[in-house]
Amino acid sequence: MANGLFITFEGPDGAGKTTQLRRLASFLTSRLKRPVVTTREPGGTRIGDAVRAILLDPAHAELCREAEMLLYAASRAQHVAERIRPALAAGAVVLCDRYVDASLAYQAYGLGIDPAVVVAVNRFATGGLLPHRTYLLDIDPSEGLRRVRARGGPGADRIEQKALAYHQRVREAFLRLAADDPQRIRVIDASRPEEEIAREIAADCWALCQRLLPEMGGAGDETGCGCGPGQG
Ligand SMILES: Nc1ncnc2c1ncn2[C@@H]1O[C@H](COP(=O)(O)OP(=O)(O)OP(=O)(O)O)[C@@H](O)[C@H]1O
Ligand SMILES: [Mg+2]
Repeated sequence: MANGLFITFEGPDGAGKTTQLRRLASFLTSRLKRPVVTTREPGGTRIGDAVRAILLDPAHAELCREAEMLLYAASRAQHVAERIRPALAAGAVVLCDRYVDASLAYQAYGLGIDPAVVVAVNRFATGGLLPHRTYLLDIDPSEGLRRVRARGGPGADRIEQKALAYHQRVREAFLRLAADDPQRIRVIDASRPEEEIAREIAADCWALCQRLLPEMGGAGDETGCGCGPGQG
C-alpha cells in the first residue's frame, strides 16, 4: 500500500486543536506534492456527522456512558473505513481533529469506563490504525473553556457543559497517554501564542516528513502505517 502520513490533534476543549490543524494543513499544502486531507471526529463522514449530532446535543443529558463510548467508536469506524484508510492508501497526509486518544481521555478516564474496554473497542473500530504523530495541545481546562466562550458561536455543547473536575481528569489522562507513548505523542504547551505553537508543530512535522516520506529522502513508513510499536 502506498502510505501516507496520519497525524492527529488532541487536547482539552478550546486548546487550539482546530486552529493549529488548519495552520499545519496550510504549511504542508504549500510544501508537499502530496494531497493534504483535513478531517475531524466525531464526524468526517455523512454517517459520522449524524452520530456527532446525537453526541453533542445538550438535550441528550440521559445518554449513558457506554452508549457515548460506542457512538464515538461507531463514528470512528465509519471514518477510518470511508475516509482515512483510502486517503492514506492514496498517499495523502491526513490531519484529523481528535481520534482514539480522545476516547481514552474523555470516556475512559473522564467517565470512568475501563480503559482496557475502550482500547479493545477502538482497536476493533479502527482495525488497529493509529497515527504516526499526535500533537497533544496541553492547556489548563479553565483557560480552554474561557477560549471556547470567547470564541462565541452556538451555546456550549453537551461535553463542554460538564464540571471542571471532569475536564481536569481529561487533561491529566491526555498527559498520561503522552507519557506512555512519547514516540508518537508530542506534548505542546498550548498556553503560548498561536504563532509560536504553529512554528513548533511545523518543525516537528517537517522532521517527521523527512524521516518517513521517500521523496524527502525518508525511509518510507517501515511500520506499515499505524501498525508500529504499541499500535496493536
Ligand atoms: N494560542 C492561542 N492563544 C489564544 N487563543 C487561541 C490560541 N489558539 C486558539 N485560540 C482561540 O481560542 C479559541 C479556541 O480555539 P480552537 O477552536 O482552535 O480550539 P479547539 O481545541 O479546536 O476547541 P474545541 O475543543 O472546542 O474544538 C478560538 O477562538 C481561537 O481563535
Ligand atoms: Mg475544534
